[in-house]
Amino acid sequence: MEIIYARDYEQLSKQAARYVYQFVASRPKVTLGLPTGETPIGFYRELVALHRDNQLQLDGMVTFNLDEYLGLPPQSPQSYHFYMNRHLFEPLGLPLEQTHIPNGLAKDPEAECQRYEEEIRRHGGLDLVILGVGRNGHIGFNEPGTSFDRRTHVVTLAESTRQANARFFPSLEDVPTQAITMGIATILEADEIILLASGSTKAEAVYHLIEGHKVTEQWPVTALKRHDRVTVFLDREAAALLS
Ligand code: F6R
Repeated sequence: MEIIYARDYEQLSKQAARYVYQFVASRPKVTLGLPTGETPIGFYRELVALHRDNQLQLDGMVTFNLDEYLGLPPQSPQSYHFYMNRHLFEPLGLPLEQTHIPNGLAKDPEAECQRYEEEIRRHGGLDLVILGVGRNGHIGFNEPGTSFDRRTHVVTLAESTRQANARFFPSLEDVPTQAITMGIATILEADEIILLASGSTKAEAVYHLIEGHKVTEQWPVTALKRHDRVTVFLDREAAALLS
């Protein structure tokens, strides 16, 4: 596991954007797994800025988001469809046909999970997955206790996750209780993984990933110890519990 330390969020965002820019620029075709949430906003902004200055070739770029809330239409400002259009797809000018996000309005969510997995397989799997991490160690919406063998599936969100994400909704009651998430087995099959962690609320999860001795489903992020090409981008606060 490689660890890249940044002094703050701005530097972390720039370092991660440069890394992904070079990854994409060096391959004629690339399939990315993408996160949402607060952490990647600066990273997406920097990636768009790099693209503006030195045009990336976008023809071969295909994206698969990690997750989407169940029950939110794509036009809802809290949906991850809306988030991705706003922070990446529109500013980058990435054609929507090249992007994939689980359908939060699917009548049969289980069938939607199967379809999503097949679509990833049809594209030859993921080359690079970019992850954030929840304060409880979740990756995607794989909450503590989720089997590392699971592929894309329907989850019931942990109460702590709903509370953490309530800041994006009018009230806690508006936060959906379920989501579709890419599973840890799907994530671990990617050729390469990067994880972005910023702020003191992530320090405990980061400690379990980097200095903890156990790979445990109680801290889903520790699954990354089983992958041999992981790069972790940390700012000082997220790294605060490391020796
Ligand atoms: C969202 C996702 C989640 C977030 C995590 C951290 O697509 O995959 O695992 O990365 O909840 O979110 P922030 O960055 O808002 O702290």
